Amino acid sequence: MSLTIAESIEAVRSQVAVAKAAGLSVGFVPTMGALHRGHATLVEEATKACDYVVVSIFVNPTQFGPNEDFSRYPRTFVADRAVCEEAGADLIFLPDVATMYPPGPPATFVEVPGLSDVFEGAIRPGHFRGVATVVLKLFGIVCPNLAFFGQKDFQQQLVLRRMVTDLNFPVQLVTVPTVREDDGLAMSSRNRYLSAEERQAARVLSQALRLAEDAVRSGERSADRVRQILASTVQSERLATLDYGDVVDALTLEPLTDLTGRRAVALLAARVGPARLIDNAILPD
Ligand code: PAF
Repeated sequence: MSLTIAESIEAVRSQVAVAKAAGLSVGFVPTMGALHRGHATLVEEATKACDYVVVSIFVNPTQFGPNEDFSRYPRTFVADRAVCEEAGADLIFLPDVATMYPPGPPATFVEVPGLSDVFEGAIRPGHFRGVATVVLKLFGIVCPNLAFFGQKDFQQQLVLRRMVTDLNFPVQLVTVPTVREDDGLAMSSRNRYLSAEERQAARVLSQALRLAEDAVRSGERSADRVRQILASTVQSERLATLDYGDVVDALTLEPLTDLTGRRAVALLAARVGPARLIDNAILPD
């Protein structure tokens, strides 16, 4: 099947209706473009699980704070289209802001308090409200059976899972493990902001997570000692500034004390030069 580009909501709806009428299952990969191998993996997973795959490319203004990188966020449609084609997508939804946000200030938002208020949500107020709102709008346009998200944005996938559960929304979310560069750096569209020297320094995030995993695998059960490993490793890198390094419950994001019998995740965020980078690791049982 060849790749179709749809800019309007009506065009997406009619293409998806044709696919569904033919009995095809629909997979959806929402993105903001600047696609890398992590996104390609999401699309490939979607093509394995579903018959018809839609990718949206939309840099969503409502999830960026006033001092964040909305205007300079990379927009690379020609390369993005090639990634989608290669990975086997059937349709790209490429709306502009006026299509996604009808004129006038919006009055309706989706809020997922609690999960949205900590970590990324504490540092980026309003971010998850913007994410949840645009993802629900996209779900309502695409009507997918399955939707695919990267584990790299760990908190985002938890917020969105909670949203679809609370709203009884008929879509199944699939979280796909983080894709990494050979040296461990998690793939991110923001990695392209890094100079060569900063790119080297950015390895410290995945190194800190590996050390935390090793410690837990060797029997460490104190969440505080694992936090110390995360913090001291990141702080040993001159070009990195730690925002947070924590060990929390992998479903509720509540801070943990003793890791025994808990499904725990280590969450890390640091600034390296102009880029704010996040990464995480589910800790061994
Ligand atoms: O993860 C992203 O790229 C964005 O937050 C998403 C889910 C496409 C919503 O704009």
